[in-house]
Amino acid sequence: MSQPLTARRSAPISGRVRVPGDKSISHRALILGALATGRTRINGLLEAEDIMATARAVAALGAAVTKDGGTFEVLGQGVGGLRAPDGPLDFGNSGTASRLMLGVVAGHDMRASFTGDASLRRRPMGRVLDPLTTMGLRVEGEGDTLPLTVLGSQELIPIVYDLPVPSAQVKSSILLAGLHAPGRTTVVEPLPTRDHTERMLRFFGAELKVEDREDGPRAITVCGDAELAGAKFAVPGDPSSAAFLVAAALICPGSEIVIENILMNPTRIGFFETLREMGANIEVLDMRDEGGEPAGDLRVTASSLKGVRVPPERAPSMIDEYPMLAAVAAFADGETRMEGLSELKVKESDRLAATAAGLAACGVEAHVDGEDLIVYGTGKVKGGGLVQTHMDHRIAMAFLTLGLAAGEPVTVDDVSMIATSFPGFVPLMTKLGAEFA
Ligand code: S3P
Repeated sequence: MSQPLTARRSAPISGRVRVPGDKSISHRALILGALATGRTRINGLLEAEDIMATARAVAALGAAVTKDGGTFEVLGQGVGGLRAPDGPLDFGNSGTASRLMLGVVAGHDMRASFTGDASLRRRPMGRVLDPLTTMGLRVEGEGDTLPLTVLGSQELIPIVYDLPVPSAQVKSSILLAGLHAPGRTTVVEPLPTRDHTERMLRFFGAELKVEDREDGPRAITVCGDAELAGAKFAVPGDPSSAAFLVAAALICPGSEIVIENILMNPTRIGFFETLREMGANIEVLDMRDEGGEPAGDLRVTASSLKGVRVPPERAPSMIDEYPMLAAVAAFADGETRMEGLSELKVKESDRLAATAAGLAACGVEAHVDGEDLIVYGTGKVKGGGLVQTHMDHRIAMAFLTLGLAAGEPVTVDDVSMIATSFPGFVPLMTKLGAEFA
């Protein structure tokens, strides 16, 4: 049953808060914990549906996950030590969980079935199956979408793979499989994508080499037959969740907020960089290291913004933030052109189309030009629309945020999917002053 929600023009957003743990790091912590020897203790793990799908999957493969107070513990089985699951692995809405776990299963002599919800069953899996089958994974039947049954192997072949698309999920899936292959497995990425797998592999003790090539690409090599040791660390706040709070503070006049302990990894902060170019007042306070990742506090105050060009090479560092950026651009003065967004078409929904349609429903002039999205900002947004979310959590949160500063209330058709990444979104925004009904 879908649950619609309406956002109305709100008083200034203010307060000092934290957002839940980073989603990408949370998935990887559970997975590497399962592949390590001994116990891994994780503080600040994101407790959202996508992460629980990964927790259930590693547990079904024999790595028990328990929770004690605010700490999750994974009982690692060692690289190659997982066992076949009794039933199908259901990854719900999570592309990251399913693609990374395909890389894990590839290196084990086991048969496993992967499935997910209607959104995940539409998403392309060929991008991971192609390299993984070259390494030795076998796929039963035809087709490259879930549901799928695969057969892993203890005799994987190491490969050198040029990523056809800049995707951290594909890179990570291959590196995880590479842990199980004798010799060196190399992934070459055309543009740098989020590097949490690399950082965490090192943190757990794997041998990894990263080489920046002169003409731009980056080559990442992992040494197979690796041994990982259980580790203890804390997950910093998710910048992709903080993005909605930052946007709300910028567009609601008179706002000022501080968001504590946000991941500031350079491969994740393209959204903040772009907003600063637009004139946003965003300060980073107290930069520090959290479990091998940079983190800081963000102070944001309402700002007058101008339109900018966002170059295609920035896309990987803010790939999940384009719906929110497009909505913020509507409140800016002038044209914002976001270039090279083809990957947005294969997210939890076709986000390029969903964002453009949502803007149109709210009276914002915008259009898609090939792989680019252009928003004509006038400094204010009419609102009053009904936005279709297409089972996409980020479309729901982006348009609810837009509604906080629009002239007329904005309704999104379904907020249930928000639980996949940011279950406390509505109460947290309400605490800051946002009005929903
Ligand atoms: C993720 C990578 C990105 C991103 C997703 C999380 C990850 O996907 O959109 O939300 O944790 O590796 P792609 O790698 O497909 O771009």
